[in-house]
Amino acid sequence: NKHGTIYEAIGGFETIEQIVNAFYKRVGKHPDLIPIFPTDLTETARKQTLFLTQFFGGPRLYEEERGHPMMRRRHLPFPITPTRRDAWLHCMKEALEEAGLEEPYRTIMFEKLTLTANHMMNTPE
Ligand code: HEM
Repeated sequence: NKHGTIYEAIGGFETIEQIVNAFYKRVGKHPDLIPIFPTDLTETARKQTLFLTQFFGGPRLYEEERGHPMMRRRHLPFPITPTRRDAWLHCMKEALEEAGLEEPYRTIMFEKLTLTANHMMNTPE
C-alpha cells in the first residue's frame, strides 16, 4: 500500500536524499566510524538512499539493484560494537533534525532505525 507510507508523508525521494547527505557528512567526520567506512562515501550514500526509500515504504529500489537486503549479513565484515551503534544513531538523529523532519515522523523513523541498528551489532567492545 503506497498511500499512507512514511516515505510519502515526509516528501518522498528528495527528503530521503537530504537525510542521507546530512548523515554521511557526519559519518565521514565521526572518529568511531571513520575506521570502518570507505573514504569516498558517494557509493555508500547512493545505496543507503535506495535502501531507506524502501525501508520507509517507498519503491523497492534497493532490492531491484542489490537483491534481498540481508542487512545483518552485509554488515558482518565490519566490527560493529555498541559504541559504533551509538555513533551511527547519533549521526542519524542529527541528520533527521537537519533535514527538517517533523513529528511524529522524526520519532517513528528514529525508533525503526534504532531497532535495525541494534540488530547490526556483531562485536563486543
Ligand atoms: C553499509 C556500517 C547500521 C544500512 C555499511 C557499511 C558500513 C556500515 C561500514 C559499508 C559501507 C561501504 O562499504 O560502502 C554501519 C554501522 C552501523 C550500521 C557501524 C551501526 C549500527 C545500519 C543500519 C542500516 C544500514 C541501521 C539501515 C537502516 C546500510 C546499507 C549499506 C550499509 C543499505 C549498503 C549495503 C550494500 O552494500 O548494499 N554500513 N551500518 N546500516 N549499511 Fe550500515
